[in-house]
Amino acid sequence: MSQIFHFPLQPLQRFTSGGAAAIKMPKEITHFSYDDRHEYRPDDSSMTYYYPPELGVDLSAGFKDFVKLDDTRDDHLEGLLRALMTVEEKEGKLRVVDFITWRGMMTKIMTTPYDNFDGFEMNATRFQVCYSECFIEEDHAAKLARVREQNANRRRPPPGAPTPDVQSYWGYKFETLSVIPDIMDNVSRDYIETRPKMVVNNHAQYCSVVMTGFTPTSMILGGEVDAIWDRRPDDPDQPINWVELKTSQEIYNDGDRLRFERKLCKFWAQSFLLGVPKIIVGYRTRDGLLKRLEELNTRTIPGMVKRKGNNSWDGNLCINFAAAFLKFLKETITSEGVWKIRRQQKSPVIEVFQTEAQGTGEILSKEFLEWRTQR
Ligand code: A3P
Ligand code: MG
Ligand code: MG
Repeated sequence: MSQIFHFPLQPLQRFTSGGAAAIKMPKEITHFSYDDRHEYRPDDSSMTYYYPPELGVDLSAGFKDFVKLDDTRDDHLEGLLRALMTVEEKEGKLRVVDFITWRGMMTKIMTTPYDNFDGFEMNATRFQVCYSECFIEEDHAAKLARVREQNANRRRPPPGAPTPDVQSYWGYKFETLSVIPDIMDNVSRDYIETRPKMVVNNHAQYCSVVMTGFTPTSMILGGEVDAIWDRRPDDPDQPINWVELKTSQEIYNDGDRLRFERKLCKFWAQSFLLGVPKIIVGYRTRDGLLKRLEELNTRTIPGMVKRKGNNSWDGNLCINFAAAFLKFLKETITSEGVWKIRRQQKSPVIEVFQTEAQGTGEILSKEFLEWRTQR
């Protein structure tokens, strides 16, 4: 058994001094799409445009026709690596950073200080130590096992109440109700009005690949972006007005208010990491009727939460925590092989240990390994 390195979460106060660690503004270096069969496309064909949804719609409508992506398949880092190879080929040089991963992994790390429920398990590999890059993926099998266990322990909803699958559908339905495939001028009124009747299909995605970092750590992150507010600016140096779409239960009482405030930590971290400036929240009733919309500016969310005075979470602490943890990872994963990054549910530590002394496990695709070995 290899040595287990520990990164303790407590005391959290050590991440509060001196404001937030310097962060680089995320900048899109490339993008790709999955089409409506979830096939990779090296373009922005699945990018969508925000157009406010009609209110009062039942988010459960059409559930039986849902064309749902098979999430039991493990795609590892495939799409992200393909996009990265395209950039490197075009630029004629390698893009070497400290960490390369999906945005979702970084969201989990950033929100760890305030998450006492979900654990996580990731695999990491440091391919070609001289390049210093560390690739991180979710341990898909461990995630599926965790979800299965959570579902088994969950109380069965009373007859007639929405099941977890229906509740998950609400989010995709809200996306279908809120986007159009082109700028408004090119989309007919008829299209907009028929959105509530459209079949929901979550195979298509637009993924943005950004360069970002918590100084001095640099990163390439890939993640799904739900829509764009207006249109892509002509100047590639201008920020892009991405929109994150979220559904949440309508706030009926103080308990709901606090639960929503806690949820905002994840909404904020997820959007912050890709530089998504706006989050549109679609509030729904307990049984899934879309009631109202709220536009939140990602940048102002931590201040808004702080002013409420509930001490539910602190954005600077999340940033400093992630910066310190990445520094620790960089100093810990110093040799080739495969490593595990794990936080067990409610555990006070993140554990890091080597699982294979050589190779890159299944983290890197054959294509990518060949590409990099030729350089
Ligand atoms: P909501 O976030 O509105 O519930 P994202 O918000 O990241 O774009 O994800 C889109 C939708 O995918 C979510 O919408 C939710 O419906 C579904 N989803 C994401 N993560 C999920 C999870 N862990 N379990 C179930 N559904 C999930
Ligand atoms: Mg999304
Ligand atoms: Mg969303």
